[in-house]
Amino acid sequence: MSAERSSQDRAKQAAADAAADLVQNGMLVGLGSGTTLRMFVRSLGLRVSQGLTMTGVSTSESTRALAIELGIPVADLDDVGELDVAIDGADEIDPAGQMIKGGGGNLLWEKMVATAAKSFVAVIDGSKTVAQLGRFPLPVEVVRFGWRSTARQIRGLFVESGYLDVAITLRGGEAAPFVTDSGHFILDCQLDAITHPEALAIGLDSIAGVVENGLFINIARSAIIGRPDGSVERISYEG
Ligand code: A5P
Repeated sequence: MSAERSSQDRAKQAAADAAADLVQNGMLVGLGSGTTLRMFVRSLGLRVSQGLTMTGVSTSESTRALAIELGIPVADLDDVGELDVAIDGADEIDPAGQMIKGGGGNLLWEKMVATAAKSFVAVIDGSKTVAQLGRFPLPVEVVRFGWRSTARQIRGLFVESGYLDVAITLRGGEAAPFVTDSGHFILDCQLDAITHPEALAIGLDSIAGVVENGLFINIARSAIIGRPDGSVERISYEG
């Protein structure tokens, strides 16, 4: 490991290595996306090269490409049954395990893979744990058609729900918008403090034009939190 590596990267690496050790022979594993997950996939690739037999189901084109490059067998979500576990990063996670995800733009496939798995493990560094969700801008994936109209309706929901003056930004900007693997846009919504995440997630999903929102509610079963010294803390959200 390079001496110049940031303490956050060392923490991510510790969590990623511990998560890779969870995978056992024969498992079907959801492979998340983002910088922490790329470390996890590299760590998993090493175990596969040493004889571990498992199959991954990817949450993004980029993770899929990395897994294939490392010799990890990858299947399509449609070609497998229930996954044993989904392993993914998070942008924020609160004490109950509720998360904001989608900072890398992969929230739709991530949520589909997460909810197709028996359990979900969040793999994070300590900066991702928060007392309350919302400082990280909430990503909302919307269809391109009529996205401004959808943004207006999202603003209406925010106002009705008591979130005033929320900045809603088209990711990438209007000149060169970010486009997801499914061909949609992302609106980043700066809510600051999300008081009722479950109700907000339901409200967002009821707006025509919204494909998915970045609130992952009652999905995480546990978290592995890496520390810069290489140690990890494990948290369970069950029971
Ligand atoms: C990808 O869209 C996200 O949901 C990631 O899981 C999240 O942004 C965490 O990414 P990092 O591991 O890069 O912080």
